[in-house]
Amino acid sequence: KPWNGDVHEVYSPICIETEEGLKRQLIGAYPICTAKEAMEALDAAEAAYGNGRGEWPTLTVGARIKCIEKFVHEMMEKRDLVAKLIMWEIGKSYTDSLKEFDRTVQYINATVDALKDLDRQSSGFHLVDGIAAQVRRSPLGVVLCMGPFNYPLNETYTTLIPALIMGNTVLFKPPKHGSLLHYPLLEAFGKCFPKGVVNSVYGRGANIIPPLMESGRINVLTLIGSSKVADKLKKQHPKVNRLRAILGLDAKNAAIITANADLDQAVKESLAGALSFNGQRCTAIKIVFVHDSLKDQYLEKLSKAISELKIGMPWEKGVNITPLPEPDKPQYLKDCLDDAVKHGARIINENAGEINESFFYPAIVFPVNEKMKLYRDEQFGPIIPVISFSDIEEPIDYLIDSPHGQQVSLFSDDSHELARLIDPLVNQVSRVNINSQCQRGPDVFPFTGRKDSAEGTLSVSDALRSFSIRSLVATKLNDENKK
Ligand code: G3H
Repeated sequence: KPWNGDVHEVYSPICIETEEGLKRQLIGAYPICTAKEAMEALDAAEAAYGNGRGEWPTLTVGARIKCIEKFVHEMMEKRDLVAKLIMWEIGKSYTDSLKEFDRTVQYINATVDALKDLDRQSSGFHLVDGIAAQVRRSPLGVVLCMGPFNYPLNETYTTLIPALIMGNTVLFKPPKHGSLLHYPLLEAFGKCFPKGVVNSVYGRGANIIPPLMESGRINVLTLIGSSKVADKLKKQHPKVNRLRAILGLDAKNAAIITANADLDQAVKESLAGALSFNGQRCTAIKIVFVHDSLKDQYLEKLSKAISELKIGMPWEKGVNITPLPEPDKPQYLKDCLDDAVKHGARIINENAGEINESFFYPAIVFPVNEKMKLYRDEQFGPIIPVISFSDIEEPIDYLIDSPHGQQVSLFSDDSHELARLIDPLVNQVSRVNINSQCQRGPDVFPFTGRKDSAEGTLSVSDALRSFSIRSLVATKLNDENKK
């Protein structure tokens, strides 16, 4: 609707030269909803759901799929614009921004296919003890979706789309860094779905989310973000035990490089795992355990590989290290390095930790110990903390003591060793990657975590289940129709 209220100005991490040096540049603004307006959006979502009697939750699966397919068609028209907005807002390379867009479209298409399968499975009847039962999947109500800045499109839509397609109505709040890119798609939502089915609330989370949660009218909370925020939000809901939460949270994924590893492979994969999109991925490798016998060579090869990375603007071809969107991040990362040095670590590579406004030069820190922030904190930036070990029980103990449990990368070329280690590792995390970096994709795979790393499971088919309930239409047969 036309906007008369406050706006939030958006500054790009891509800086320009000014008389006072490099400065983040203003690239746009978005409206800030008041708490009252956020509640109006909730009213609209609730009205469209109509206590399960609304047009959307009672529409056939086929009709809902048609709306989503139309939306994908509209979305494709905006591919370049959305990718450019991702690039300008969060500093992701243009190539990776396009990949994020394409991956999101693939996810939506795969979700549609999975729903068709689920619907086929639901169309049969089970005849048990004189009862003919049809097992279906039914929606849950109003879903509040919040995505993170690092995948502002993909991580928002991988919850929003399955929630929607299952017949729920949705309220979504874009992340602070990564909001403008949603604008071109709002019109497409308006064109493809009945009024009130998809609602956006823009603005300061601290002002608009608490009243929504405190109203007790949110049926499902979905957040890809921090465990601290998730705990706080859940507590605001008056019926927290009845609230379904689908959460992707903190992670401190470890790489474990045993004495039997192919070292070049371990260097290549741990580097990509730790530094893709500047280490700002929940699935990034955030600590490396390397066997004593390989540590010197590993540090040397890793330093060389970092020196060959291309640092530059996100539109440059083959760029690896780009500007960081959070203005306080470079200083936070510098503080982590200072803290590690204070507690006995060395900074291994040249230029490590150099800051140029929104750029931070990647750093390898060794040997990391439990006194340092980098031992447990999720740095979410281009720092690779390294620890050496002599006994494989040491990294496993680290994982057991960790509050996180998302993924591990295990490097070894010894099949007996791998066979021995897989169970102890997969019982600590939700995915073990053999001789490769940690990652979410392909997105059809289950995506979850243990302990503080997740609640519920995302992936294509798991997400459809997460945003619905298994319900039953049971018909008691009389003697007449039993025949
Ligand atoms: O930040 C979390 C993302 O889901 C990670 O996805 O492993 O494909 O980069 P990715």
